[in-house]
Amino acid sequence: MASLSFFRRMSLPKMGKLSSKMNASEPNAEERVSTPEKQTVLLLHAPRQPYQLTDNYPVPQVKGDLEVLVKTRAIGLNPIDWKAPDFNFGIPELPYISGRELAGEIVETSGRSSRLKLGDRVLVISTDYRDLRKAAYQEYVVALDYNTVRLPPALSLEKASTLGVAFVAAALALGVCMGVDFSDVLDGPDLYRLLREVASEDLPSDIRKECLDGIRDHERALPGDWLAVWGGSSTSAHLTIQLAKLAGLKTVAVVDKAKHGLRLANHKAIRTDLLVDSHDSRRAVDIIRSNLKGKLRFGIDTRGADSATSLLQALSPGNLTSSSLVPVGAVDGSPPSPPATPDDSMLLSAHLIALTGLPKQPAPEGTVFHTVPIKLFHEVPAIGEALSSWLERLLAEGRICAPEIVDIEQGLESVNKGLDRMRRGEISGGKLVVKVA
Ligand SMILES: NC(=O)c1ccc[n+]([C@@H]2O[C@H](COP(=O)([O-])OP(=O)(O)OC[C@H]3O[C@@H](n4cnc5c(N)ncnc54)[C@H](OP(=O)(O)O)[C@@H]3O)[C@@H](O)[C@H]2O)c1
Repeated sequence: MASLSFFRRMSLPKMGKLSSKMNASEPNAEERVSTPEKQTVLLLHAPRQPYQLTDNYPVPQVKGDLEVLVKTRAIGLNPIDWKAPDFNFGIPELPYISGRELAGEIVETSGRSSRLKLGDRVLVISTDYRDLRKAAYQEYVVALDYNTVRLPPALSLEKASTLGVAFVAAALALGVCMGVDFSDVLDGPDLYRLLREVASEDLPSDIRKECLDGIRDHERALPGDWLAVWGGSSTSAHLTIQLAKLAGLKTVAVVDKAKHGLRLANHKAIRTDLLVDSHDSRRAVDIIRSNLKGKLRFGIDTRGADSATSLLQALSPGNLTSSSLVPVGAVDGSPPSPPATPDDSMLLSAHLIALTGLPKQPAPEGTVFHTVPIKLFHEVPAIGEALSSWLERLLAEGRICAPEIVDIEQGLESVNKGLDRMRRGEISGGKLVVKVA
């Protein structure tokens, strides 16, 4: 574990005491508690190998005004943490440090962040997997202040470590891919509008089309519209359903009902309007279609290409109904003429968002396939800031709840054991957390 005999900065009067690089009376003074130079991390040396516990690894350095250093206390394990090494993707360099979300305390700030202070209990959502300084499987983690969320006192660090990645994926799927406006939910973001205020060259080129052309203004999801979530037991579904309900959408979840039905039906925050068993996917599609009668235009799949293909069959593109068009002449009192024949501008496409894999087939006419532009969170500060500050308000006001913790492992050294449990499918309907001393 980290040796406290090496201090990264000039020696401090007492371990844990606040230090300031500039004059303490200056409002922008950089602040830090003493931190060691070296720490313990988990290193991946090659695909399909366990992570190696490694001492005497340098503590990452913060750069610039927008970064803070956080002492890791609890890590939320994610499927990508075992899938990336097993299937050899998403590993930009070796040895690699993994881990996408954690909770802990701020031990260093630039002093310029308006929100974050030394000692704040925070959740760090580390979507930037290319920057090893920001990975969770280490004792100290660098975080962008706009990817860091302060926690209310009642929320434990363990609970907090479960919800960040799922929140960001859910908010971007709903807000960007479906155009949901969260303005009425504790002054949440209207991501559709926010993205159009960002200079288009500041949007990463590989997701620019999804951000700006993924959905047209007149087809954005509105309160009362239906959303189906296939794979309703997942952590990402847990957050997606909650945010969708807060925005006034009606929800369907497709799950293994024997395993998850009771839990979902009894949980006020994630109880859906319709709960469908996933065992027979063809029957699940029939049940959705017969209940919703052509009204389902939005689907989010959390499981993979096969269930995404089933979800596609449940979706129904539509047209703007004549009742939603103002007949010509009706406003000025003259006799109304019949509504125009529907053309392309009136089509309401169906929208399928895949978190894990899109159907193998191309999108049929009238349907748009989406992947979640997750990198918006760390690459576009205005989006990261909007989501992080909104999550702070949602947590402070108790408007969303964290997923269940299935179990807690102890120490960085237990991460491999935890990931093996996830590989074996033992972690279901909640999150596995690792506590770090
Ligand atoms: N694209 C993005 O930006 C993005 C963001 C977040 C997540 N994701 C992806 O979305 C998917 C869901 O993520 P999550 O964090 O929400 O998942 P999760 O909560 O860890 O688990 C999802 C569900 O998968 C089933 N499961 C568990 N272990 C399994 C295994 N070894 N093999 C097959 N199924 C297993 C369980 O459902 P049952 O008990 O019902 O079978 C579990 O409830 C993952 O593939 C993840 O990588 C993508």
